[in-house]
Formats: sequence, C-alpha cells, structure tokens
Amino acid sequence: MRKVNLELGASSYEMHIGSGLLAKTGHWLKKHGFVGKLVIITNPTLKKRYGEGLKQTLDRDGFQVITLLVPEGEEQKSLETAGRLYHKLTDCHAERTTPILALGGGVIGDLAGFVAASYMRGVPLIQMPTTLLAQVDSSIGGKVAVDHGQLKNKIGAFYQPQLVIADINTLKTLPAAEIANGLAEVIKSAAIRNKKFFAFLEENIEQIKTRDNEALEEVVFQTAKIKVEVVAQDERDFGLRSILNYGHTIGHAIEAVSDFKIEHGGAVALGMLAAARISKKMGFLDKGAATRLKALIQKASLPTKMPKLNQKKLIQTMQHDKKVRQDKLRFVLLREIGDAFITDEVSPSLVAEVLANEET
Ligand code: NAD
Ligand code: GLY
Repeated sequence: MRKVNLELGASSYEMHIGSGLLAKTGHWLKKHGFVGKLVIITNPTLKKRYGEGLKQTLDRDGFQVITLLVPEGEEQKSLETAGRLYHKLTDCHAERTTPILALGGGVIGDLAGFVAASYMRGVPLIQMPTTLLAQVDSSIGGKVAVDHGQLKNKIGAFYQPQLVIADINTLKTLPAAEIANGLAEVIKSAAIRNKKFFAFLEENIEQIKTRDNEALEEVVFQTAKIKVEVVAQDERDFGLRSILNYGHTIGHAIEAVSDFKIEHGGAVALGMLAAARISKKMGFLDKGAATRLKALIQKASLPTKMPKLNQKKLIQTMQHDKKVRQDKLRFVLLREIGDAFITDEVSPSLVAEVLANEET
C-alpha cells in the first residue's frame, strides 16, 4: 500500500492507495475515532459490485451501516438529488458525527461530498473512489459540487474529506472507455509537472491498459502526488491550482459544442494537443515534445484528431468559461514536458488558427 498526504493544516488528510483496501475500511475508520452509525452513498451497480462486500466487513467491525442509493448518471449531480439525500439522512437519524462514505466515481464523490459539506453544516466525509478519474483527480482536493441546469459544478464548496481510500482492485471492472477518461487526467498531470513520470507512462502504457496492479498503483500514486502538491499550495484555486486545467480550456468547449458526444477525457486530450500547438507557435515548446504528447495520447486510446465543430462557437464557449478572468482567455501552456505555466496572453485568433489547422 502507498500513502499520499495532503498537507492543509488542521484539514490535512491521508490517501491510501493499493489492492484490497475496501476490506480495511473499518480498521481505518476506528483509527479516526468513528464508531456506530455510518452512511454509504453509492449507485445500484456499485452497491452490488463493491457496496455489499464493504457493508459486510463494516458490519463485522461493529459499525451500523446504512446504504443510500443514487441512480447512475451526471444528471444526479443536482440539488434535487441532494434534497432527497438530506431527507433520507434525516429519516435514518444521521448525526453531525455520522460519516458519509462516497463509494463511486466522480459523480458520486462530488454529490455525496456536497451533501456531506452541507448536511447539518458538515459531517465527516470519506472518499472511496472507484474510477481511475476519481482516484487520480476528483476524490482529492476537496472540490464538491452539483450542477445547476446546464452549468456544471456551479453550486459547490471546498470541503476536504477526512480520508481517501483508493482500492486499485475496483479498476478491474471499469469499462475501457472509463480507463481512457482517467488516463487523460493522468497524462495531463505528468505533462505539467513530472517528466520522469511521463516517461514511465510512455514505457508502461500497455500494462496500465491491461490493468496490471503494480502499474496502476504507480499511476494512481504519482498522479495523486502531483495533485496533492499543487492543492497544498493553492487550496482555494486562486493561482497555481489552475495549472491542473491544462487541456481543459479548449477541452470544455469541445465537450459543450459537441453536445457532450465527445467525452471529457477525449475532449481534454484534444485540448492538450491544441494547447501544445499554441505553446509551439508561441515559441515555448519544441516539436519533439509535442510529438511525444500526441503519441502517448494515441496509445492511451484517446482521440488525437479534432472533430468538425463550429469554430466560432468553440471560441465563444471558451470566452464564457469559468477559467476566463477579466475577459481574457486563460491558458495553461507547456515549456517542456513536465513544466507548465499559466498565461492570459493567448489571442483568440491564435486559438482559432490552431483549431483550424492541426499541422500547426
Ligand atoms: P462517473 O462517476 O459517472 O463514473 C463513470 C461510470 O463508471 C459510471 O457509470 C459508474 O457507475 C461506473 N463505475 C464507477 N466505478 C466503477 C467500477 N469500479 N467498475 C465498473 N463501473 C464503475 O464518472 P467519473 O469520470 O468518475 O467522474 C466524472 C465526474 O467527476 C464529473 O461529474 C466531473 O464534474 C467530476 N469531477 C470532479 C472533480 C473534482 O475535483 N471534484 C475533478 C474532475 C472531475
Ligand atoms: N480538477 C481540477 C481541480 O481539482 O482543481
């Protein structure tokens, strides 16, 4: 098992990464001083796959386990679903000390996290991520939220969990497309902060895709470490943390303009490639680095070719994104693999040029 610490003063916490960790949950909860009632929030599929086993081990450890189910899908990240969960928590007499265990991907983590942050002004939260994306990104750093109409993550909070338990074994049942989604964030993290880890990904991409335990554990550990180091310096996302948005300025626009037909991971991959071309055009990045990035993205089964989308709409969507500050587009660019910086000096015309011509 590997451990990563997120140092945030009184809100510091540990992330545990390894195989078979769900069975140890009770032991760690006791170490954190929890006794009696606890609530697992998950979806029906994950309840069957992992929730029932988790409940059994927690029962054996003397906890009184209540499982609350949320249907599948991003549309459940809503105030309505949160409202239903508040009712259920009240019905089962959850108290201020009753921990909520968020067992699932980013949807469950964000929703259950939001509920934990707001029910009775905050109850303890344990993140138990089961997708690669959730293990390397959404379970770490305390961003919890629900969507509001078309606006993603519009209503939310910074609310840190007390513990993150990432059981690598759960990734074995994840569809290949979800592994690719998570890999987009993994590649992003290596590209912005860790050249050596990027080389590891280049060498081990096949083992990762075939879910080799050792390779997956290294991937989750290294990516989590990058996120933790960034968040520890800028918890509230006023500066450095936006470096984690590499590929996301264009990526979010691609997702939205494609009517979400292009998935998040694919959109981020295309966004990273476009941002690399901008970095090259502005004289920061050499061609070799951009070529390596493209090759790795391709090997990760992520798209490298821009679909035909309305260019004007893409730029307009970027200009309305929450990453815009004082009407200027904010971009994360690369100086080299492992070294990124934030700038608002990218002109919309250069973005348009790079989107129109993938050979730039
Ligand atoms: P998801 O939670 O929708 O999970 C994807 C699918 O995989 C779902 O159908 C889920 O039921 C299934 N699944 C989950 N674990 C499984 C397993 N072990 N085996 C088989 N199937 C499994 O998607 P996601 O990509 O994990 O998360 C996306 C969400 O995360 C978005 O809402 C996004 O806004 C959010 N997010 C939040 C942050 C943050 O910092 N809070 C960061 C990135 C993304
Ligand atoms: N996913 C970006 C962040 O947590 O800030």
